Amino acid sequence: MLKGKRILLIIGGGVAAYKALDLARRLMERGASVRGVLTAGGQEFITPLSVASLTGDECYTDLFSLKDEAEMGHIRLSREADLILIAPATADLMSKMANGIANDLASTILLATDKPVMIAPAMNAQMWDHPATKRNLETLRGDGIHVVQPGDGMLACGEVGPGRLAEVMDMVAAVEDFFGGDNLLLSGKRAVVTAGPTHEPIDPVRYIANRSSGRQGFEVAAALSRLGADVTLVAGPCVQETPAGVTRVDVETAREMEAAVNAALPADIAVCVAAVADWHVKNGGAQKLKKSKDGTPSFEFGENPDILKGLSGLKKGRPALVVGFAAETENVIGHATEKRARKGCDLIVANDVSSATGIMGGEYNEIHLISAVGAESWPKMEKGAVADRLALKIAEILKG
Ligand code: CTP
Repeated sequence: MLKGKRILLIIGGGVAAYKALDLARRLMERGASVRGVLTAGGQEFITPLSVASLTGDECYTDLFSLKDEAEMGHIRLSREADLILIAPATADLMSKMANGIANDLASTILLATDKPVMIAPAMNAQMWDHPATKRNLETLRGDGIHVVQPGDGMLACGEVGPGRLAEVMDMVAAVEDFFGGDNLLLSGKRAVVTAGPTHEPIDPVRYIANRSSGRQGFEVAAALSRLGADVTLVAGPCVQETPAGVTRVDVETAREMEAAVNAALPADIAVCVAAVADWHVKNGGAQKLKKSKDGTPSFEFGENPDILKGLSGLKKGRPALVVGFAAETENVIGHATEKRARKGCDLIVANDVSSATGIMGGEYNEIHLISAVGAESWPKMEKGAVADRLALKIAEILKG
């Protein structure tokens, strides 16, 4: 199973490029999400449209596309993958990789990445046997690149010999071997995660919100899913993409969020990352409020349900592990330790959300993990890395 694994599939220019389409399909059948990058050579054989239609995602082709760079630059493409798979890997691509050349989108991703890379070479037998290719292959192996050996047989050029792209199912098996079965530490566990802000309506067109982007919560849902958990993500209004393999329930208000969380129970794990509004407007308008000569409106607030506290205090069916987040702007560890006790949860992930830190709505997070035994401070990391480490911690605690 490849549930939740994110594979960036780089398709090089070779007759075998068409096999990459079947490869993408087989990987997705096993639960992976696949995002395609097509080199200029690859586009001579298959089209970005066929890759995009099959993967259900955009197919990336240009290094200097303003649109792609704004939405999904080469750094993000590599960052948001668990494995970069190149099939077919041409002699040219291998040579660029071995020599650190970055002159198109694929080679730039490959130079910029710190993620594992696997290549499935395909080329003419003479090219495969050439000392230059052999040297490059040696270099790549030395750089830690995983290689799916090409097969022997009839090549597109009419010659017979080594250099034929490995069979699709052999490439799938190599990917499965790479991920192994033993990293599914949360297989069989159910998790519910809340994320994003809530919107509390004032009238049909106005609402009270906060600056949460939902990114950290979505990353937590994705990380738990990558470890094999069956994850329901209850999301307030935000634009993040649903992580592969995760069931998403969209809500607006805190009260809707509470209902959706309760509907997702029973669960073994609950992680409340959402920045839930503490109050809702009790005397909002059923119709749009109009300006009036009598002055500005006054609102009365009602308290929202505390979802985390509710889950932590469940007498029946309490998740085995309830994790909260604490957004603080001062005395972070002190306030968060007090919050853990007050809410009755097992762990609190505390962060400093003062605007100077850029954490709320930003890409990075710097957290302190508060448990019954004290606080553990983690270095500043990307929100995805925080989520992965937290998911591993959760798995470790549940294992006992
Ligand atoms: N939380 C929740 N429901 C609420 C408010 C908060 O589930 N109505 C959860 C959040 O998802 C988070 C934790 O409680 O996991 C702490 O949220 P935070 O906003 O830091 O705390 P508050 O309870 O709102 O306390 P305060 O605003 O006083 O700091």
